[in-house]
Amino acid sequence: MPRQQNFLIDRRTLLSGSAAMAAAAALPRRAQAQTPPVKEFRLTAAPGRAALAGAGNPQTAVWGYNGQVPGPEIRVRQGERVRVSVKNDLPEETTVHWHGVRVPNAMDGVPHLTQKPIAPGDTFTYEFDCADAGSFWYHPHVNSAAQVGRGLYGALIVEEREPLPVDRDITWVLDDWRLTKDGAISDDFGNMHDVSHAGRIGNFITVNGAVPETFEVRRGERIRLRLINTANARVFGLVFEDHAPMIVAMDGHPVAPHAPEGNRVVIGPAMRVDLVIDMAAAPNSRFAVFDRFYRGFEYRLFDLVYAGTPLRDAPPAREVSLPANPLAEPDLAAATRHDVLLGGGMMGQMASAQVDGKTVDIRSMFKRGLIWAINGVASTEHVHEPLLAVKRGSSHILAIANETAWWHPMHLHGHAFRVLSRNGAPTRHREWQDTVLIAPRERVEIAFAADNPGDWMFHCHVLEHQAGGMMATLRVA
Ligand code: C2O
Ligand code: CU
Repeated sequence: MPRQQNFLIDRRTLLSGSAAMAAAAALPRRAQAQTPPVKEFRLTAAPGRAALAGAGNPQTAVWGYNGQVPGPEIRVRQGERVRVSVKNDLPEETTVHWHGVRVPNAMDGVPHLTQKPIAPGDTFTYEFDCADAGSFWYHPHVNSAAQVGRGLYGALIVEEREPLPVDRDITWVLDDWRLTKDGAISDDFGNMHDVSHAGRIGNFITVNGAVPETFEVRRGERIRLRLINTANARVFGLVFEDHAPMIVAMDGHPVAPHAPEGNRVVIGPAMRVDLVIDMAAAPNSRFAVFDRFYRGFEYRLFDLVYAGTPLRDAPPAREVSLPANPLAEPDLAAATRHDVLLGGGMMGQMASAQVDGKTVDIRSMFKRGLIWAINGVASTEHVHEPLLAVKRGSSHILAIANETAWWHPMHLHGHAFRVLSRNGAPTRHREWQDTVLIAPRERVEIAFAADNPGDWMFHCHVLEHQAGGMMATLRVA
């Protein structure tokens, strides 16, 4: 075991060059003893079958990790090191991206940009420290719309060193699928209607890979609920009838506990929200959980059902809040400001964009599957000229203007950012996020300290929009 830990130190410094490795070899024993514990996992991405509609119904052919949808929940403690070997048994290349985890660039899972894609039959081992506690997730970054849409995703939970005092810690992985009448996944991935509109919105919702029926709770119980939206494109807006959830973390990072606006928990694609919900109603009572995001398309997701015997008379009175993660605070006074314009899509004004360095009109773009642009550039691949190249250690404000008629959950890899304002009004909680949901025509300012070196993706997490050009890279050097 100690030998293995020495190997870990060497391996890590290898990534940052041989000079550093020589320095590591000279480390005194004391420093070596501080290597964080390593948790090992194995994931195999492969085609399989899942009973999305529940036992007794026809199974759906899916792609999953370790034969499961969602893939196995990876659960570690803050400060631990994770080593995950990923075997690709799919008929095409893949990678795994650790969404929201501030990994070293070489572990970020972006094909060609940070690693060679994992060929069918091959294995790649990811290894990184979990510096931040919180709710994260993992998914492929190759052909993402189809690979994630077929079921490749799983939760990655990093527990705080001191667990939050709750009775249960529950994860709900929310997904929506597009199924045909016979229960198969509709294979119209990447069709231009989805790409140019709201993305691939499905017709079948699952929680943790199955159609939810009821969720049993007990009077007096306090639950931490980790919501993870793994849908390609659907935004959820959960309403818990007669209950008052408190948001305690967003995208994994602690936020001042607060009630969601209008008691509706809005969670865009790829986002996570951690709630604390107190169960204060009478035994044997029943309450609906609604999804009320899209007007006219509200539906009842399932019911909370109270058990006959209470856990205690009333939920604990004391407030819960989480300790901050070790994030570098952006220096707003010294920050450089950058305008970022999101353009394109149906009902947009964009007439042309830069594609591979050439100006291309929107009709020709469309024929190539492109309809979105960031600062006038539509990206076809993961590797291209960076949108921004910034100095390591510097602070930046991105003033993002959504000039389209559609919602965009914009995700930055390798960092978390503070959401400073929306339409010019300061946000109440200056929340840390890695994915910020931007409404049609909305302007949002985010700020971050560029402290993680490498080339990082900045893209829309409506996976069809990403494929349709809404993708850029940010270089920190
Ligand atoms: Cu969750 Cu670049 O993605
Ligand atoms: Cu988008």
